[in-house]
Amino acid sequence: MTTKTPWNDGRLCYGGDWNPEQWPPEVWREDVALMRAAGVDLVTVGVFAWSRLEPEPGRYTLDWLDDVLDLLHSAGIRAALATPTASPPPWFSLRHPDALPVTADGVRLTHGSRDTYCAAAPAYRDAARSIAEVLAARYAHHPALALWHVHNEYGTTCHCPHTEAAFRRWLTTRYDDLDALNDAWVTTFWSQYYSDWAQVGTPRATQYLANPGQVLDFRRFWSDTLLSAYTEQRDLLRAANPAVPVTTNYVLGDWVPVDHARWAREVDLVAIDHYPSATDLGAEEQTAFAADLARGWARHGAGRPVPWLLMESAPNQIHTAGRMHTKKPGRMTRHSLAHVARGSAGVMFFQWRAPVGGAERFHSAVVSHAGADTRVFREASNLGAALGRLAGTAPGRVQAAVAIAYDAASGWALRHPGMPRDGLDHPGEAAAVHRALWHAGVTADVVPPGAPLDGARLLVLPALYLASDATVDWVRRHVHDGGHLLVTWLSGVADEHARVRLGGYPGAYRDLLGVRVEEFHPLADDEHVPLSGGGTGRIWSETVHPAGAETISAYAGGVLDGRPAITRHRVGDAYAWYVSTRPDDGTYRRLLTEVAGLAGVVPACPGAPSGVEAVRRQDGLLYLLNHTDRPQRVPAAGLDLLTGATVDGELTVAPGGVAVVREETP
Ligand code: GLA
Repeated sequence: MTTKTPWNDGRLCYGGDWNPEQWPPEVWREDVALMRAAGVDLVTVGVFAWSRLEPEPGRYTLDWLDDVLDLLHSAGIRAALATPTASPPPWFSLRHPDALPVTADGVRLTHGSRDTYCAAAPAYRDAARSIAEVLAARYAHHPALALWHVHNEYGTTCHCPHTEAAFRRWLTTRYDDLDALNDAWVTTFWSQYYSDWAQVGTPRATQYLANPGQVLDFRRFWSDTLLSAYTEQRDLLRAANPAVPVTTNYVLGDWVPVDHARWAREVDLVAIDHYPSATDLGAEEQTAFAADLARGWARHGAGRPVPWLLMESAPNQIHTAGRMHTKKPGRMTRHSLAHVARGSAGVMFFQWRAPVGGAERFHSAVVSHAGADTRVFREASNLGAALGRLAGTAPGRVQAAVAIAYDAASGWALRHPGMPRDGLDHPGEAAAVHRALWHAGVTADVVPPGAPLDGARLLVLPALYLASDATVDWVRRHVHDGGHLLVTWLSGVADEHARVRLGGYPGAYRDLLGVRVEEFHPLADDEHVPLSGGGTGRIWSETVHPAGAETISAYAGGVLDGRPAITRHRVGDAYAWYVSTRPDDGTYRRLLTEVAGLAGVVPACPGAPSGVEAVRRQDGLLYLLNHTDRPQRVPAAGLDLLTGATVDGELTVAPGGVAVVREETP
C-alpha cells in the first residue's frame, strides 16, 4: 500500500490554522502574501467554520471558501481542509437539545463555547456527516486540497440516554454475556451484580467510589465511539477522492478518552497538537517526549508505518494555568525543529492570525495583534527558510535503541478512585524515564505494548499498570530474545480489566524480575526516602522481597530501612531491573545511564555537552539543538544544511541555536 502524504519528495510542511472566516477578503490577500513571505505552504482551513458554511439548517454558503481555496491555490499554498464538526452552530443545539452533552452529575451543557455535542447522539452524527458530505462533494478534487483534517481534537464524553444505550451496545459486543461483564467488573464487590443489561449504565455521579472496571470500559467505549465518528467522515471523504490523505489532530493528555495508538490504524498520518506546559527546560523535555510518542504511534500503532506531523504548536507563548509565558527568541524554532528532528513531516502553528475577539484572542499567532512587523513573524519567516533548506529530508527515521512502553488504558486505570495514592500517572512516569534518558543523551522510542522491538536493546515499563496476557508475552519474548528490561513500580499489577494479579506484586513480571512485592508504602507529596546507592525515592515505596534478584540500592531509613529499593535479575545475558520508587531526577539519570550502558546503548552524540539535544537519524542527519545561552562545541563532521558550512570534526552551535549536519559516511 502506498503511503498517502500531503507533501512530495520529502518536502517539509509549514503553516498553521488559518481562519479567513473571521476576516474580510482584503485581509485574506494580505495573509496569503505574508504566508508566501514566511515560506508557508500548508494551512488548515475551516476548522471552526460550521456556522459560516451552514448558517441555517441545510442552507450552505460556500462561495467564500471557494474564493479562499482558489486564492491559496493561485499562491501555491495547499490546504488541509477541515470538517468543522468540533463546533456545531447554535441552531443545531436548539434544534436538537437531545444532542447536547450531559455531565456525570446530570447537567446538560449548552452552546456558547465549542465541542458542545454528544458524539453518540444520532442527530449530531447525521449533521456531522452531512456537512462533511457537502465539503467532500464540492472540494474533493480542488487543486489546493492536500489533506482532509477531520474535526478538531476528538476528546469529549457524555452521559445522556443516547450514550447509555450506546455504552450498553458496546458492552454486549465486548462481553459474551452478562456473566462475563460481572466477572470483569468484579460486581460481587458492594453488591453490584447485574441481572439484566438494562441495569448497566454509564459511571454517573454516585454516592461513593465508582467501579474501576466500569470506569475503564467507559473510557474505552468513548475511544471507540469517537473513532467511529471520525471513520464515518473519513470514509465519505475518501470515497470522494481516494488520493487525498485523511487525518485528525490528536490532543495529548490522559484526560482524553482516546487510545491514540489504536486510532493510528485509521489515519493516513498521525497528527499531534503540542503545547508544553513547563516553562523551564521542562518545555524542551516535554517537546522531545511528545514527538517520540507521535513517532511511536505512527510507526507502530498503525500496523504499517505512516508519517506524523506536528499539526499545532504555539508560535509564541507557553500557556500555564495562571499565565502565558513569552518564549524567548529562538525557542519556538528549537521546539519546531526538535519535532522535525524526531520525524515530524513539518511544523504547523495554532494560529496564523490572532482574532480580535473570541475566547482565544490572546493566544499567540504568527501574525499577532501588532501585525507582521514583529520578532515573532521574523522568527517564523526564518524558520520557513530553514525548513526550505531541509527540503528532501522528510520523513526521517530516528536511531533509537531504547523502547519505553506507553499505554493509554494504563494511564486511565491509574487515575481510578480507590488507588493507594492520588496522582498516580503512567504518562508522567513514562515522561520521567524519557527525561532521564534525554539528559543522558540517549534517544528513546515510545511504543505501544505489542510493538515490534527489533531494534530495542532495552525495554522500559514505566508504571505500566495493566498487563494483558498478550502484553506479558510481549515482555517475556523481549527478555528471552536477549533484551534488557527495566520495570518500575505499579507495572503489571493488574490485568486488562484492572483486576489485581494475585500472589504478590507485580503479578505479571515477578518471575522475570526475581522479586515479590508484599505491600505498598505510598509516600506523601513532600516525603523523600534516602536510598543506600545515593539519592532519594519519592511518591512510592514498597516491601520488596528478592527472589533471585540482587539489591542494587536499598531504602535507607524509615520502615523499609535496609530493604531493596532497586534490584537487578540476571536472565540469560541480560538484566531485568526493578525500581520500586521514583528516584529523584539526578539518581534516575545515573541509573538509566548505567542500565542503558549495560544494555549496549550509547548516546546519540557522545561528546555533546550538557544542554545540547542531539538526535541522530537513519538518513544520515544529525540534529543538534543548543538549549543553553552559551555557544557549545560538538564533535561532528559533514555539511551543516542550515548554513551550508562544512563541518570538519567540530561544530560550534550558537546560543539557543540549531545545526543540522548531513554526516559524512565513513
Ligand atoms: C488546541 C486546539 C486549538 C486551540 C489551541 C490553543 O490545540 O485545537 O483550536 O484551542 O488548542 O492552544
